[in-house]
Amino acid sequence: MSDVAEWWRSAVVYQIYPRSFADSDGDGIGDVNGIRSKLPYLAALGIDAIWISPWYPSPLLDVGYDVADYRGINPDFGTLDDADAMIAEAHDLGLRVLIDLVPNHCSWDHPWFKAALAAGRGAPERDLFWFREGADGPQGSAPPNGWAGSFGGSAWERVDDGQWYLHLFDVSQPDWNWEHPAVLEEFDSILRFWFDRGIDGFRIDVADSMSKDSTLPEVDEPRVPGQPANKYPAHPHWDRDEVHDIHRRWRRIADEYSEQPGGARTFVAEAWVSPPARLARYLRPDELHCAFNFDALKAPWDARSQRRVIDNSTEAIWEVGASATWVLSNHDTIRHRTRYGRDQGEASAPAGTVDADLALGLRRARAAALLELALPGGAYIYQGDELGLPEVEDLPAEVLDDPIWEHSGRQIRGRDGCRVPMPWSGTEAPFGFGPGAAQPWLPQPTSWAEFTVAAQDGDPASHLSLYRAALQIRRQHPALGDGRLEWVDLAPDVLCFERRPGFRCVVNFGVDPIELPAHRRMLLASVPVEDGVLPSDGAAWLSM
Ligand code: NOJ
Repeated sequence: MSDVAEWWRSAVVYQIYPRSFADSDGDGIGDVNGIRSKLPYLAALGIDAIWISPWYPSPLLDVGYDVADYRGINPDFGTLDDADAMIAEAHDLGLRVLIDLVPNHCSWDHPWFKAALAAGRGAPERDLFWFREGADGPQGSAPPNGWAGSFGGSAWERVDDGQWYLHLFDVSQPDWNWEHPAVLEEFDSILRFWFDRGIDGFRIDVADSMSKDSTLPEVDEPRVPGQPANKYPAHPHWDRDEVHDIHRRWRRIADEYSEQPGGARTFVAEAWVSPPARLARYLRPDELHCAFNFDALKAPWDARSQRRVIDNSTEAIWEVGASATWVLSNHDTIRHRTRYGRDQGEASAPAGTVDADLALGLRRARAAALLELALPGGAYIYQGDELGLPEVEDLPAEVLDDPIWEHSGRQIRGRDGCRVPMPWSGTEAPFGFGPGAAQPWLPQPTSWAEFTVAAQDGDPASHLSLYRAALQIRRQHPALGDGRLEWVDLAPDVLCFERRPGFRCVVNFGVDPIELPAHRRMLLASVPVEDGVLPSDGAAWLSM
């Protein structure tokens, strides 16, 4: 493991979605021993850390973001012993391990929520959640207020005795009441439980959501289904000032553990908040270490938008002394190969509505990888990014599993298309995902034979080889990782920036080829470069 004190500022972290990564026992579901079997692959890829999406006991109604026991491993995925072994093996290979903390809500299978239901109206057990009487007269037959759930429909569900409980996400995900001291103490203890097992940090799910205005006022600007919430200013349940007290409390715990061998224990925030100055508040020195830059993820593929988002976000983040954290895809977004294969306005089109040009998308995804890995700060790679996987947009309706599908009245297909299990080898499904012929929980397209790790391994022109080469250079080059950049203006559709000492990244977003600036040596390019000419949608790393 790198012994750099502030390792997270430069780290490349690989996101594992455990259900879809690797299946060791042939039940079609990825598991912890599957992850263990692929650790050497990940170490050889050249990453610094892994982040494992929730692996806890859960009914998996939101694929594990509905946690029934924060101190265990889902039996579908393995055991705590498997997890301990995985953590130790990852550390032996020099990889740090982050896991997911889901603090806004639990699962309706969590014992404390079950106890709250059983205890009935007015019982202290209900105070751990947001139970309220309904509106609309003595019957209380309407939800307490008009808050909308993030997956569609009301954020309130009625229980048998007539009270309602709040769930900002799926009905199976009751929100914790973070004003209750027992909730605060329970999460302190959960953090300690995993830090004691050797975990190096946590990705914090919806890090901007825990605090609510307990007077439950209506939201000024009601949410448009399928659109992100307008969270600022003064939203009653997103990005509220009080949430920062919780992060400060957790930071003190992480800092305690950071004194022990193994270096800094860290947090990365998942917070879809804007403007950038609001996000930067989560990164003040006594709060979280980093936060995904989703503005950059959402930015269209053109030089102006990309430069604007890079400048705006880094300015705000550097202002508080933090480092940037870049990400192109994750388990909630349309895979970027597909996004970049569409016209900008259609980049987030619902699955299946607009065809993507996947060849164009791949070309841009290659350039985007070099851009992402050259920018100052840390970077996240979602499993399969390194293979150039596209979104699977034609999953049959009967296999769709994302709660968004049902909540939207089967109008929005949801996020399953980026969660299709990894193709490792072979020419037909399950492509080495598990032993034997057992089919994975979501079907893989037959066309994925060409994307397997085995098919790309050793092919110098493959996407995987590009990632491996880029990560290797990034590890060795003193200019890469944390730091600053200086723009070099070359042409309107081109981004060129210098990282000191002696490194430049050039990305040609235009349709015409451009001449590369004079350089000492080309380190890597996403496209063939002849006579110093960088084609459209290509990127190059230059040694100056
Ligand atoms: C964000 C997670 O990334 C997403 O997958 C989940 O559905 C919501 N938070 C709710 O936990």
